[in-house]
Amino acid sequence: MSQPNKKEKVFNLLKELHEKLNIRNYLEDLEKDNNFITQINQKIKSNQIFQKRVFNSIYEFSVYRNFIYSLIRNQKPSVVLETGVLHGLTSAWILKALKDNKKGKLISIDLPRRDWEKFFGKKPFGPGGQAEFELQDEEPGWIIPENLKESWELNLGPSSKFLEDILKKNKEINLFIHDSDHSYEVMKYECDLVQKYLDNIDIVIDDHYCNEYYKEFSEKFNRDYHFIDDIDDNQKQVQGSLYFPRKKS
Ligand SMILES: C[S@@+](CC[C@H](N)C(=O)[O-])C[C@H]1O[C@@H](n2cnc3c(N)ncnc32)[C@H](O)[C@@H]1O
Repeated sequence: MSQPNKKEKVFNLLKELHEKLNIRNYLEDLEKDNNFITQINQKIKSNQIFQKRVFNSIYEFSVYRNFIYSLIRNQKPSVVLETGVLHGLTSAWILKALKDNKKGKLISIDLPRRDWEKFFGKKPFGPGGQAEFELQDEEPGWIIPENLKESWELNLGPSSKFLEDILKKNKEINLFIHDSDHSYEVMKYECDLVQKYLDNIDIVIDDHYCNEYYKEFSEKFNRDYHFIDDIDDNQKQVQGSLYFPRKKS
């Protein structure tokens, strides 16, 4: 019997996750939408950063991004806030979900790698940061299809510069996604501040395992969490991200 490939593994993990969380799986909608994957492929072809040149299915991308699409279709947020954009793959999945909901905007904060020293001098990147390559001649989010950008606000700089102001001004944020610097210090700063201003929102932390802060956060604020496993390029199941659902009222 043949081994399941990445596509099947991602599909199956997402199916199990939706069943566990008892939420509707909206990914059939996205899988049927050939236009979205075509637009992403066109962007990918515009430079050399991706080794794989053509993607045939959304399930060739991570569980993490696809889960976020479906979560947004379920929750119908007014505003999504994310830290960490880089090429903008996750931002594209978020903006597509908002467009399909016909509602909502995305506010992103991203410190481009090229500006790191301006703010942090010789301090090293947090875990995993060294392996992230940005394209020097492209802006963060270059992969986002143009027709999705109308609901997007991008703030360029460290989260410490923008986050508090954004939280003060946008009480209707319903989902926060941390995927910036994965140091304990930055994860704690971002999650604590979000919790302080908006204690009842959904939170997704990518690469939560880079430090132990998610455990502290869960205990401190009495919040349940679910692990979202993922599939790596070698088709192995690996730790991915973590979802803190909003508290039940
Ligand atoms: C892991 S990548 C983001 C990947 C993206 N979310 C995705 O899934 O495609 C992290 C990004 O956060 C940026 N970054 C690092 N430290 C930051 C900080 N303190 N505030 C905001 N962005 C930061 C990095 O330069 C990089 O662009």
